[in-house]
Amino acid sequence: MQIFKIAVLISGNGSNLQAIIDNLKNQEGIGICSVISNKKDAYGLTRAIEAGIDTYVINHEDYSSREAFEEELIKVLRKQSPDLIVLAGFMRILSKVFVSEYYGKLINIHPSLLPKYKGMNTHQRVIEAGEELHGVTVHYVDNSLDGGPICAQSSLTINTKDKKELENQIHELEYKLYPEVIREIAAGKIRLSGGEVYRE
Ligand code: GRF
Repeated sequence: MQIFKIAVLISGNGSNLQAIIDNLKNQEGIGICSVISNKKDAYGLTRAIEAGIDTYVINHEDYSSREAFEEELIKVLRKQSPDLIVLAGFMRILSKVFVSEYYGKLINIHPSLLPKYKGMNTHQRVIEAGEELHGVTVHYVDNSLDGGPICAQSSLTINTKDKKELENQIHELEYKLYPEVIREIAAGKIRLSGGEVYRE
C-alpha cells in the first residue's frame, strides 16, 4: 500500500505533534516520515524519538540568511518527498520561495477563528476584546500572514477570563481538529484547487 507521507515542522513543545502521532498510530496508509525542528532543544523532538520517527534539527541561527536556512530545509524535505508538510508550532516565517515550492502541500494550525486575530498572543487579545467565541483554524499556507485558504475551524464559547485556562481549552480543540484535517487531506476529502478549499 502506498503511504501518504507527512513531515511535521516544530519549534517547541510539540503537543500538537503528539496528538497527531497518537491519532495516526493505527491508521494504515498515513505515516509521519520526519519531524524537523529549527531548535535543538524543542521537546517535540523527544516526543518524535520516543515514537520512533526520524528527526532533523536545522538551527536557523547556523545560517546567514532566511534563504540559506530554507535551502537546507528544502534539501532535507526533497529527500523525503512528503505528501504534506504540517506546521505544528513552527515559529519561523517561511519565504515566498519555500511557500511556492510547497503550496497546496503546506498546512498550519492557528489558535484563533481566522481571519480574526492573526499573529501572536491570540488568547489574551480575544479576552481583552470581550469576544464570546474563540477557536482554532487549520489553513493552507500562502504568502500572507495567517491568511491562506481555510481547511476547517473549530470553536468554543468563552467561559473564562484566565488566559492559561482558555489556552488549554483551545489546545483540546487543536488536538482533535488537526489530526482530523490531516486524515481528510490524505483521503482526498479536503482539496485545494484554484486557491479554493473543497471539503466533502
Ligand atoms: C499551538 O497553539 C498552535 O496553534 C500554534 O502554536 C502552538 C504550538 O503548540 N501554531 P505545541 O508546540 O503543539 O504544543
